[in-house]
Amino acid sequence: MEYRIAVIAGDGIGPEVTREATKVLTAAADRFGFTFRTTVYPWSGEHFLKTGVLMPESALGEYRDHDAVLLGAIGDPRMETGLLERAVVAGCRFGLDLYVNLRPIKLYAPHLCPLKNDKPENIDMVIIRENTEDLYVGTHGFFKKGTPDEVATQELLLTRKGTERVIRYAFEVAKGRRRKKLTMVDKANAVRAYDLWTRTFEEVGKEYPGIEQDHAYVDACTMWLVKNPEWFDTVVVPNMFGDIITDLGAMIQGGMGAAASGNIHPGQTSMFEPIHGSAPKYTGKNVANPVAAVASVQMLLDFLGEKDAAAAVEESIAGNLRSKKIPALTANCGLSTSQIGDLLAASVRG
Ligand code: IPM
Ligand code: MN
Repeated sequence: MEYRIAVIAGDGIGPEVTREATKVLTAAADRFGFTFRTTVYPWSGEHFLKTGVLMPESALGEYRDHDAVLLGAIGDPRMETGLLERAVVAGCRFGLDLYVNLRPIKLYAPHLCPLKNDKPENIDMVIIRENTEDLYVGTHGFFKKGTPDEVATQELLLTRKGTERVIRYAFEVAKGRRRKKLTMVDKANAVRAYDLWTRTFEEVGKEYPGIEQDHAYVDACTMWLVKNPEWFDTVVVPNMFGDIITDLGAMIQGGMGAAASGNIHPGQTSMFEPIHGSAPKYTGKNVANPVAAVASVQMLLDFLGEKDAAAAVEESIAGNLRSKKIPALTANCGLSTSQIGDLLAASVRG
């Protein structure tokens, strides 16, 4: 089997962590008997400043000819706020209709967790963030901009179809997990538009009597994630709140250096990326931690159906963290970016 992977290394540390992620992907391919071919795309702040091109519309059609997209990191302080992120990250999410943002939160070793007394068995959940609606649709405006009477608006947009498909996906994920519990997180007590989520969750939930169904408001959810993370198994959440609670989730699993995500439309070309940013200050120094990028490769392999390869990548990450061969999930952790990649690739080769 030969897979076609589109690679957007992006900005800052993106190219370095993507290089290591590709190294581990090569190791997995060699061991598990598949091959892959990459098409490298240059979208980044640097590319924009040189050429004036962000991510052209035509790229979306090209991605669809690939099995998956692997993205490193996007963000360049020289650019107008959000321009690149909207063009590339949101461009892929919306352009490919990747309605699920799958974000597993798993603690591999107690010493990685900033919470006192928390154990790996207490922190093992998957957060499913809606990825194509809510405050992220981008419709906004300014009236009397720059004057004392300025008005700014941004629309929170939810659709029944968009809500239902992600909730349904989350129930299916919950069905496949040991605990079989799905928690829906929103803020319907204050923002009444989320009543659509409340009703849809209840209705779809009737089709899943075997799944324990729970609800938390997002403010309380941030509290429980710190106080009782073991209460969470599978979580489904609208886009904006999902962005926020998954950074908190990343911290309790060891930091942004650990957290990966899959932007998924089942059955279609999907995109995999670390949750962390481009960390401009570490660019080119070979000190960034590539674990999250490697974990993104794990998710990509799982999505492609290469389950054994995905499991081997996960075991490699978990094993090297437990043994402290990878001392931490931060930059400058004592090993260079390429040393961590070498270690992970070697463990995958077995
Ligand atoms: C994330 C990021 C993005 C988001 C940014 C880069 C637009 O924070 O993937 O969580 O807000 O979704
Ligand atoms: Mn985020």
